[in-house]
Amino acid sequence: MKRALKAALLSRVLFLLCVFSTTRSQSCSSYTFSNNRLYSACTDLPFLNAFLHWTYYPSSGTADVAFRVNGVSISNWVAWAINPTGVGMQGAQALVAVQNSSGILQAYTSNVQTYETTLAESLLSFSVSSLSAEMSGNQMMIFATVQLPDNNTSVTQVWQVGPVTGGSPQPHAQTGDNLKSVGSVDLLSGQVASSGAGGSRETKKNVHGVLNAVSWGTLIPIGVMIARYMKVFKAADPAWFYLHSTCQTSAYIIGVAGWGTGLKLGSDSPGVVYHTHRNIGITLFCLGTLQVIALLLRPKKDHKNRFYWNIYHYFIGYTVIILSIINVFKGLDILDPTKKWKKAYIGILIFLGCIALVLEGLTWFLVLKRKKMAAPTPEKYSHTHSDIGGADEGNGYGI
Ligand SMILES: *[C@@H]1O[C@H](CO)[C@@H](O)[C@H](O)[C@H]1NC(C)=O
Ligand SMILES: *[C@@H]1O[C@H](CO)[C@@H](O)[C@H](O)[C@H]1NC(C)=O
Ligand SMILES: *[C@@H]1O[C@H](CO)[C@@H](O)[C@H](O)[C@H]1NC(C)=O
Repeated sequence: MKRALKAALLSRVLFLLCVFSTTRSQSCSSYTFSNNRLYSACTDLPFLNAFLHWTYYPSSGTADVAFRVNGVSISNWVAWAINPTGVGMQGAQALVAVQNSSGILQAYTSNVQTYETTLAESLLSFSVSSLSAEMSGNQMMIFATVQLPDNNTSVTQVWQVGPVTGGSPQPHAQTGDNLKSVGSVDLLSGQVASSGAGGSRETKKNVHGVLNAVSWGTLIPIGVMIARYMKVFKAADPAWFYLHSTCQTSAYIIGVAGWGTGLKLGSDSPGVVYHTHRNIGITLFCLGTLQVIALLLRPKKDHKNRFYWNIYHYFIGYTVIILSIINVFKGLDILDPTKKWKKAYIGILIFLGCIALVLEGLTWFLVLKRKKMAAPTPEKYSHTHSDIGGADEGNGYGI
């Protein structure tokens, strides 16, 4: 299961890194609208066969816009948005066209707050009038007059195409051009600075997600399982200690890299902050660093403080595992609205959980068997009991 996930993640990252060439089937300036609509300027948007036409009115700070997507059907939704606060989908003030369940092609506005948006109808942060949608052949169009935020003709735009089920917009594809369709347009000069920005940001997010899901979310629990379940075999001493510390140290190094990419992502988009995800991430970094320092400072196994050190080490260790898993899920909710990765990660957790359950049973079986065979003195009892992972240690490396 883990291999399948890694392959899926890898292929996705490679896919995003690929360069797509867009073939332009039509130029915006040669297009004539059927209903005598005329616009003073237009641009061929670089992805998704989309076009933007507009007329800017300086005296009112408004623009008439027409957004047009070629090569779609009535079972698609299309949207064009201005994002006054950020770069991507979050915060986008969208004009949406979708055939609703009454079979009517409807145009409405949607203020996109989360990646899990269903594009529900809501008011935008600026006013929109004369909103309508039209289907002509395989083209879907949205017409509107928008009040440009801050009377600023340079706007960050996002546009999108997705499928419709039962009159409701469904999540758009999470690959290729659907992730690149962001950029800026200056309605005064007509200059379009296009994107790839969205694509590279998505790539950064994916790298962040992979690094953290692998390190905090997978390697650290495996490292704890190594310690807990190998320790019981006398033959595996001290091998388990080296495996455990190598696994956790590598996880920590990869995890810090992943944490750094997260901080960078956060600072790149000051308008969008995932407070909980960020705070848990910072807490994890602190606890993880504490564990690494504690490893170097651990008292000798027969030192009187070793008992307290062990309690501390277990407590922080299990806290890290729980917080890591919570934060991986929080991150996956942000990264992957279609839940595919979430399912893959749940698969990994179930897999690890099953292994842990079997080994837990085996460990107890072995310990109880040893206890039966050994003379049942209190001293012996306490020693074997500790092999399960109590606060004592049965070897020179107890951790
Ligand atoms: C918007 O800006 C233009 C050009 O900067 C200016 O001429 C116009 O008066 C402004 N309109 C409003 C409503 O502020
Ligand atoms: C579909 O859109 C039309 C036009 O906006 C509206 O009158 C109708 O109520 C909508 N139907 C549903 C089910 O939302
Ligand atoms: C207009 O918005 C752009 C971002 O799209 C920003 O860089 C620029 O500073 C803004 N200009 C003004 C005058 O606010």
